[in-house]
Amino acid sequence: MGLQGKHIILGVTGGIAAYKSVMLLRLLIKAGAEVQVVMTPAAKEFVKPLTFSSLSGKPVVSEFFTANTGEWHSHVDLGLWADLMVIAPATASTIGKMANGIADNMLVTTYLSAKEDVMIAPAMDLDMWQHPTTQRNIETLRKDGVEIISPEKGELASGLEGKGRMAEPAEILSSIEKYFANKETLKGVKVMVTAGPTYENIDPVRFVGNYSSGKMGFEIAREFAKRGAEVILISGPVTLETPSGVAERVNVVSANEMYAKAEEAFPKCDIAVFAAAVADYSPVEAADKKIKRENKDELTICLKRNPDIAASLGKIKKNQVTVGFALETDNELENAKRKLKTKNFDFIVLNSLKDPEAGFLKDTNKITIISRDGEVKEFEAKTKSEVAADIVNSIKL
Ligand code: C5P
Repeated sequence: MGLQGKHIILGVTGGIAAYKSVMLLRLLIKAGAEVQVVMTPAAKEFVKPLTFSSLSGKPVVSEFFTANTGEWHSHVDLGLWADLMVIAPATASTIGKMANGIADNMLVTTYLSAKEDVMIAPAMDLDMWQHPTTQRNIETLRKDGVEIISPEKGELASGLEGKGRMAEPAEILSSIEKYFANKETLKGVKVMVTAGPTYENIDPVRFVGNYSSGKMGFEIAREFAKRGAEVILISGPVTLETPSGVAERVNVVSANEMYAKAEEAFPKCDIAVFAAAVADYSPVEAADKKIKRENKDELTICLKRNPDIAASLGKIKKNQVTVGFALETDNELENAKRKLKTKNFDFIVLNSLKDPEAGFLKDTNKITIISRDGEVKEFEAKTKSEVAADIVNSIKL
């Protein structure tokens, strides 16, 4: 696949992996991209700007000014020109500066003015990679919408072995190609995602709830937004930040509130993904004052059934593609197939609590997708963000 006509900023920072960026630049140029290289001062200690400018056909930008001519390099113009910014290698220092807005060089300044999407390929020693500071900064960048091309395990320049090697240039190129292939593929498509748990009040301080973190639903919303869809994310009480690009987030607490908001959004949507762990029952009556502990050994709370959001909307669905989840502890396939039918889903995503990689509060998941036509597809254990991509890829409009 080509990158004809694509404008890419290649940011190079001061790590030994900078020599691999030369290869990456060659691959990008061969694929048809126009590349502007921006280097940090430290990067120039590893590779000469001349190497990059010879291959890209453009002078490397590194300083705010050209010393002898006084020419100012506009990071704003660069941001407007580019379709994508790729920083490879991204050192711990640059990652820290990006996460905290320390714009003391041309590269970080360009990042802060970037209108285009940004990808980074981190490279550092394994201890630096594992350090909580680096991981916190990576998480901040991820939340800010930066795509992280994960470093690989292997031999490091320090002689140590472990995770921290920059991804190979061919792999970075394939992430870039994938980015352009996916971008805008769902432009104009409206998507509703329900996520997180619901809380059903017992009294003003207590509730019936579940362990759902909302991570899976939020990753799905992020993936749709990345592909240009207009996403409305209806979320129960979670501590997650809204993924970048999501058009609207609606916070709800109870199943009834989630139902009301989902019913309102659903008719305007082309796709609905029901990833929320909706409480099946709620107290018949929530006490308006805190229930006091009395001298009783037992307390009975009477519960009534909540609306089944997915099943109700499944009954009124027209052309929408609907996707549901089944989190099972036993008879997994059988239960999932039954839910697929009763809730009128196009496909259902099964995860089993028996799998150590699946379930609430985890960052990984292991899924099986069962389609309406009976096809059963098992996936390997992956991060929830990779699982989200598999789920979105499985939707046929
Ligand atoms: O029946 P069960 O709760 O296992 O079904 C799970 C699927 O149904 C999920 O997609 C979930 O989001 C959806 N659901 C719902 N409203 C409910 C219960 C489940 O939308 N009250």
